[in-house]
Amino acid sequence: MQKLYHGAAFYPELWEREVVEEDIRHMQKIGINVVRIGEFIWSYIEPREGEIDISFLINVIKRLKEHGIDTVMCTPTATPPIWMSYQHPERMHVDNEGTVMSHGARQHFCTNNGYFREKAAIITEALAKGLGKLPGVIGWQLDNEFKCHVGECYCETCKVEWHNFLEQKYQTIDQLNTAWGTQIWSQYYQSFEQIPQPSSTPFLHNASLLTMYKIFTHEKIAEFAKEQATIIRSYSDIPITHNATVFFDLDQALLFENLDFASFDTYAVQENVSSYMMLCDLYRNIKKDSPFWLMETSTSFSASLERYASPHPDGYLQAEAVYAYAAGAEGFCYWLWRQQRTGCEIAHGSVISAWGKPTIGYKNVLEVERIRQELEPLLLHTEPLQAEVAICYSDRAKAYFQTEAFNGVQYKQILTDFYERFISLGIHRDLIMEQADLDGYKLLCTPFIPYLSSEYIQRTIAFVEKGGIWIVGPLTGGRTKDHTIQTDYALGELEKLAGVQALFTNPLDGTNTYGEAFGITADLGLWSTIFDVEKGENIGIIKDGVGAGNAFIKEMKRGKGKIVFLGSLPLGSQGEKMVEALIHHYAKEAAVKMEIKTTDGTAIIPRIGKDASYWVVVNMDGKTGEVTLPKKSVDWKSNQILESGKYEIPPYDYRVIKYHF
Ligand code: GAL
Repeated sequence: MQKLYHGAAFYPELWEREVVEEDIRHMQKIGINVVRIGEFIWSYIEPREGEIDISFLINVIKRLKEHGIDTVMCTPTATPPIWMSYQHPERMHVDNEGTVMSHGARQHFCTNNGYFREKAAIITEALAKGLGKLPGVIGWQLDNEFKCHVGECYCETCKVEWHNFLEQKYQTIDQLNTAWGTQIWSQYYQSFEQIPQPSSTPFLHNASLLTMYKIFTHEKIAEFAKEQATIIRSYSDIPITHNATVFFDLDQALLFENLDFASFDTYAVQENVSSYMMLCDLYRNIKKDSPFWLMETSTSFSASLERYASPHPDGYLQAEAVYAYAAGAEGFCYWLWRQQRTGCEIAHGSVISAWGKPTIGYKNVLEVERIRQELEPLLLHTEPLQAEVAICYSDRAKAYFQTEAFNGVQYKQILTDFYERFISLGIHRDLIMEQADLDGYKLLCTPFIPYLSSEYIQRTIAFVEKGGIWIVGPLTGGRTKDHTIQTDYALGELEKLAGVQALFTNPLDGTNTYGEAFGITADLGLWSTIFDVEKGENIGIIKDGVGAGNAFIKEMKRGKGKIVFLGSLPLGSQGEKMVEALIHHYAKEAAVKMEIKTTDGTAIIPRIGKDASYWVVVNMDGKTGEVTLPKKSVDWKSNQILESGKYEIPPYDYRVIKYHF
C-alpha cells in the first residue's frame, strides 16, 4: 500500500465545465485524493451506436491528476443507452412474473444477452485502450453493484443459457432427473429444453430447480465480469475490482476469483454498526493479498424518491473511517461528491450540495481527512493481524435460504446476530469464504450453511486433526449440492466422518423446548438437529419439550482437535449468553488470545508491525467507552507510557495502543 485513499463518486458529465473545475479545486483543498467516475456514462461517450468518443474522460482525468487526484475508472455497463433498448424488449431483463424492464433506471438489460455482451465488450475495450495507461488511473471498477436491483432474469436468452448450463452440469437428462428426484409431481424431463425457468406456478417449484437457477445466475454474472476483466487486462495492468455487497444476488467467491481487489458499498446506519464491522471483516479477507476498498458510503444519509435514512450522528463517520482503515481498507469513499440536480436520487446525502455548499456531512468529511493523515504513517507500515477465529461466509448458503427460508431466515441477518456474539466477547475475528485457506486459525465456525461440499468437509477435518476446533451449525450440513435431503445420514458425509449420530431434524420454534449448556438454560428454536447422547461428549442437553433428554450440542474428538455440533439456535438474551459461553469456552480451549477488553460499543482492531503490535481502539456507539490494557503499553499518538489499567475512549474517538514485542 502506497497511500490511504479518501474519495468520492464524481459525475463530471452532469455539470458545466466551470462547475467541474470548481469541484476539482474544492476536492484538492479538502484532501479528496481519489474519485470514481464513469459507471453510468455510456450514452455520454457513445451517444449513437459506434460513435465512441472518450476525450471528455481523458481531459477530466488529466485535470484531476494535475490537482493530485487519482481516478478509479468504471465500465459503464450498468446503464446501456437508449439506442440499445429502444424497440428491443428481447434485450431487456425480465422478472419472474414476466415483466419486461423498460429503459430509465439501471440494470434494465439482460447481462446474458448477446447484443449486450458485444456492445459491452466494445465500450470496455475503447476505455481500456484509451485510459488504461493514463497517469492518474489507479483502478478499474467493473459495472456498478451487479445484481443489486435485479436477481434472476427470465428472458428467452436466459432460457437457452439455462439449458446449456444444466447440460454442462449434469451431462445427461437422466442424471439431472435422478439428482432432482423429478418423478415427484410428474416433473420428469425428457430433454434439457423442457426444463422451465422457475417463473409463476400455482405452488412451489422443486428446491433443486430453484437453487440451481440462482447458481446459474451467480455463474453467469461472474462469467460476464471475467469477460470484461480479460478485455481490460489486454490494455492495462491496473488492478480491477467491483463494488459488491452481501445482499446482492452474487457468488462473491466466484466473482472476485477473477478480480484483483475486493470492494464493497454500505449505507448501514449507526444502529447497524455490527453489520458495518462485519463487512469490513469479510472484505478484508476476500482477496488477502490486496487491501480492500469501501467504495461507497454516505457522508450522512442515503435517500431516493422512495425513502430516506436518518443523518448519522455527528462523529459517526469518523468512527466508520477509523474502523475501515484500521481493518485494512486502502480507500474510504463517498457516494457522492456533489448532490445530484436530477434523477431519482436528488435527495441523497453528499459532500457538497447541488449549489456547491457544504452539506450536513461536510464537517465530518474534513475530520475523516484529518484522521486519514494522522493514521497513514501507521497504516502504511503495519498490517491487519490475521484473526485466530474465523467465521465462514457463503453466498451459496444465501441462495439455499432464498429457496428454503426455514420460516423466514434472512442469511445476512442471522449471520450478523451470530457475529455480534464475537463483538460482545471482544474476540478478534475474520469472516472467510468457504474456499479460504484455514492456516493460522485455531477456531472455525460454520453456521447457517445448509450444503457443505465434500471438499470443504475433508479440508476442515484435516484442520481439526491438526488441532483446530470446528463449531458446525446451527442449520449447517442438512442439504446436498442439488438442494435435496441426504439419504444415508441426516448430515451426510459430515455426520459419518465425525461419528456423531443425528436422531431427528425438525423445527423447535414455539414448542417451549429449552436446553442447558455451560450452566445456562435457554429456549431453543430454528430448524434443529437433535443428537443422541451415546457417542461423544454431550455439551448441551434438551431439558424439556421436543426431543427432551437428547443433545443439541455435541463435541466429537478428532485427531488433536474437536468438531462441535451446535444443532439448534438458543434464543433470547439467555440464548445469546449461551452462544457466547460456547464460543468463549472453545476459544479458550483453542488458546485464542483474548488479551484486551473494552466496554460494549468500543471496538478493537489489532495490527502488526515489524517490532510492535498495535491495537486501534475506536468508539463506535457515541457513548464514552473504556479499554482495559493488560500490560504496560505506549500511546502511539503521544508516545506516552500507559500503565496497565483502564483508559477512556471519548465518543467516536480512537486511540492507538502500541505494544513492543
Ligand atoms: C448505491 C449505488 C449508487 C447510489 C447509491 C445511493 O447502491 O451504487 O449509484 O445509487 O447506492 O445510496
